[in-house]
Amino acid sequence: MCGIVGYVGGRPCKELLLTGLERLEYRGYDSAGICLINGRADITRRVGKVAVLRDAVGTSAHPATTGLAHTRWATHGGVIEANAHPIEACEGSGVTVVHNGIIENYAALRRELSEAGHVYHSDTDTEAIAHLVEECYSGDLVEAVHKAYQRLDGHFAFAVAHRDSPGVLVAARRGCPLVVGVGEGEMFMASAIPAFLAETRKVQHVFDDEIVVARTDGATFLSGDGTPIEREVQEVEWDDDAAEKQGYETFMLKEIWEQPDAIAQTIGERLYHGQLQLDGLNLSDEQVRGLSRIVFLACGTSYHAGLVGRYLLEEWARIPSESDIASEWRYRRPVIDRNTLVIAIAQSGETIDTLAAMKEARACGAHVLAVTNVMGSQMTRECDSVLYTRAGLEIGVAASKTFTAQLTLLYLLALRLGTIRGTLTGERAETLLAQVRSLPDLVRSTLERGELVEPIADRFARNEFFLYLGRNIGLPIALEGALKLKEISYIATDAYAAGEMKHGPIALLDDSTPVVVIATDGHVYEKVVSNIEEVRARGAHVIAVATEGNEGIRDLAEHVLYLPRTEPELQPVLAVLPLQQLAYAIATRRGLDVDKPRNLAKTVTVE
Ligand code: AGP
Repeated sequence: MCGIVGYVGGRPCKELLLTGLERLEYRGYDSAGICLINGRADITRRVGKVAVLRDAVGTSAHPATTGLAHTRWATHGGVIEANAHPIEACEGSGVTVVHNGIIENYAALRRELSEAGHVYHSDTDTEAIAHLVEECYSGDLVEAVHKAYQRLDGHFAFAVAHRDSPGVLVAARRGCPLVVGVGEGEMFMASAIPAFLAETRKVQHVFDDEIVVARTDGATFLSGDGTPIEREVQEVEWDDDAAEKQGYETFMLKEIWEQPDAIAQTIGERLYHGQLQLDGLNLSDEQVRGLSRIVFLACGTSYHAGLVGRYLLEEWARIPSESDIASEWRYRRPVIDRNTLVIAIAQSGETIDTLAAMKEARACGAHVLAVTNVMGSQMTRECDSVLYTRAGLEIGVAASKTFTAQLTLLYLLALRLGTIRGTLTGERAETLLAQVRSLPDLVRSTLERGELVEPIADRFARNEFFLYLGRNIGLPIALEGALKLKEISYIATDAYAAGEMKHGPIALLDDSTPVVVIATDGHVYEKVVSNIEEVRARGAHVIAVATEGNEGIRDLAEHVLYLPRTEPELQPVLAVLPLQQLAYAIATRRGLDVDKPRNLAKTVTVE
């Protein structure tokens, strides 16, 4: 939530900052702003997307070689220009701040600083940082930021520039992402690597409770108490092409089609001479055999991956498993112990609720395994084991390829644990592994049938409600399909366990309701058919996702989306594909911006 970009170096930075902002726009797009330091702080802010800011600053050259920029997802204060960042302290102070996160003691600071004579211009919590830095400033920006940082409660990443200190940016982090890009005679700061990927692939991660000072010739890292810290420079694998649409009309469409590769990469990493190895899983075979329970914790789409994981771990490794929403679980008094494996899943590795749940789990003595797509992200530093999905950069706010990569990784994990525990015979494990390895091809052929969703989208794009039903391992996919549709098309959806429909949601059905049913082959298929009959009896319109070869379903459903035949446990990875495509086709018919749905942000760093 919110994207920060900073630059200090030898080049005029206006265009570098605007391009960086465009790359971070998925983090929030309520307003955008830029501050260029050149003897004075030239600040331009606009409500709306970065394109509006770009128009406002125009194409003329600006000589500044130090600057900050920001794209906002509003928390404190409405979506108005006065609340857009960069935020200045008192007029003429020269202090400007960009910030991601929440300052929890902002109201107390506001009272204190107002009494001390500071004049506020916005309703944001960020302004407390600006005035605090101004209050602490006596010619040394690093010292001022350090002092201000020590007074702040909450979770944040912020960067400060001072009109009188061109060539220096000072930033601090606690709980929100911040990374430094190392160039030749220039340094970048950003909430995420894509902001500067076109300029450098060398990065230095900023860890929690650290202050970083960027100057033209390098960055210095300090701990919260001011002790200097050495930080290695790492080279990232992503290339900048990933941050371009490469001919696709949207990032989401590109990412949907990248799923075969994302899955292949996620598998490829783990196969050595055909043998499955999960480097990064720091559990001995003895510890795996001693596991008494698995708890999946995550939010949003990653939570749906955890729901699938629960079935897999129970089925293949015979370990009692549950899956919970991180923001709920963390406020329970969970009963877990050192024989519990907690699997925290987050594409971004920065979701604050998931991070908080992980901390709680570790405090209870559980072994915490992080599953994430982002190397060096916060969750990789707050876990006992980490396994990476290899989906590459995902920019569309609605998750697609990262979800199927998460499922793939969970298949591999369940296979490995099942093999170690002896709940899968060698032969069965080999058969399943072969099926998992065939997923990239199966996914590609499923995506290639995508035109089948077009008539469904034509027919129902103007409906204002869809119901999604599934049973067993099909239920998480019903939930994910419903989430995709609601987040990119703004159509109200409900997703339910099909057997539970008669206990309430059936009242919603009439002869205008489209009902998407996951009706793939498996041991609950006949039960799903009964639920389809119940839907039909109310005159609603059934859209079934079914297994190739099932001709009977044509008599029950008005539209059928067929999937290639595979093991029942592997069906989720295929079944979600037409649902992503259907949501996409409906959203585009409604003329919506699928990459940046309203009110959402890709990385959720607030509770
Ligand atoms: C999915 O389409 C969402 N935009 C959202 O639900 C997302 O999955 C959620 O915010 C969790 O993100 P994470 O995987 O980075 O933790």
